[in-house]
Amino acid sequence: MADLTTTIGPLQLKNPVLVASGTFGYGQEVVGLMDLNRLGAVVTKSVSLEPRPGNPPPRICELPGGMLNSIGLANVGVEAFVEQKLPFLAALDTKLIVNIAGRTPDDYVAVIHHLEDQPNIDGYELNFSCPNVKKGGLEFSQDPTTTAGVVNVIRKQTQRPLIAKLTPNVTRIREIAQAAADGGVDAVSLINTLVGFAVDVETRRPRIHAGAAGYSGPAIKPVALAKVLEVAEHVDIPIIGIGGICNVTDALEFLITGACAIQVGTANFIDPGSAPRIVDELEQYMNAHKLAALPELIGSLKKWS
Ligand code: SIN
Repeated sequence: MADLTTTIGPLQLKNPVLVASGTFGYGQEVVGLMDLNRLGAVVTKSVSLEPRPGNPPPRICELPGGMLNSIGLANVGVEAFVEQKLPFLAALDTKLIVNIAGRTPDDYVAVIHHLEDQPNIDGYELNFSCPNVKKGGLEFSQDPTTTAGVVNVIRKQTQRPLIAKLTPNVTRIREIAQAAADGGVDAVSLINTLVGFAVDVETRRPRIHAGAAGYSGPAIKPVALAKVLEVAEHVDIPIIGIGGICNVTDALEFLITGACAIQVGTANFIDPGSAPRIVDELEQYMNAHKLAALPELIGSLKKWS
């Protein structure tokens, strides 16, 4: 049987298939639809210091190649997260990565202070890349100096693994990934959504209340793969690949390109069984290709000579 275990810096996972933040609530919402224990890790919905109602509706719309969202980081806030959501998540037989959002570096620090003495949290994913908020979203991952600075502040607060979730909405993502590495993260996850826009031609209004929004789903996969390739070729840091992954072939593309794990996002809205199915099919692929362990696959991209 193929060994699916993978490592993301200091984090050991039983397999490389994660679910992306914000695509399945706090886990309880999908009970009965999928077995969360089959996953390599669960990444929570973004948690902020204070509760956030999010942006006014409509804040999601389906498009032919994916979907637009502008949720605005709606969440219950860290205190309610610890009281109401964490007990369920912490009891799962999988790793738990809490995604954190903030308007300022101090916000991230404050959220981490609330979480540090909670057991069964295996790492933090820092959301530096939400395109749908006025403060604390893209500004943290569109400039290398800002990225390194904010990571550096957060790094001092915790020994737990830190992952920076980066935006594709930059010219050279390798510079941002390098800055995040220099600041002290253990890994980067890429990509978050591309900024997109759609118009309802009957009402002539934007299809999303906030206007421009985050575009995700199958259409962004080639963009995401190009960003993973760029970082894999230029930065010495573990990569978690995200972007339009719906099936095992998509997942394999990311692993072969250099990601040591992947996150399934928009596909969860279509079929919450996608991620566990990818785990099964990845094992079948590895057995069929006589691959004993995942490192034989990760970064195994062959160049044309
Ligand atoms: C949102 O809450 O608007 C989306 C989250 C994100 O893109 O990081």
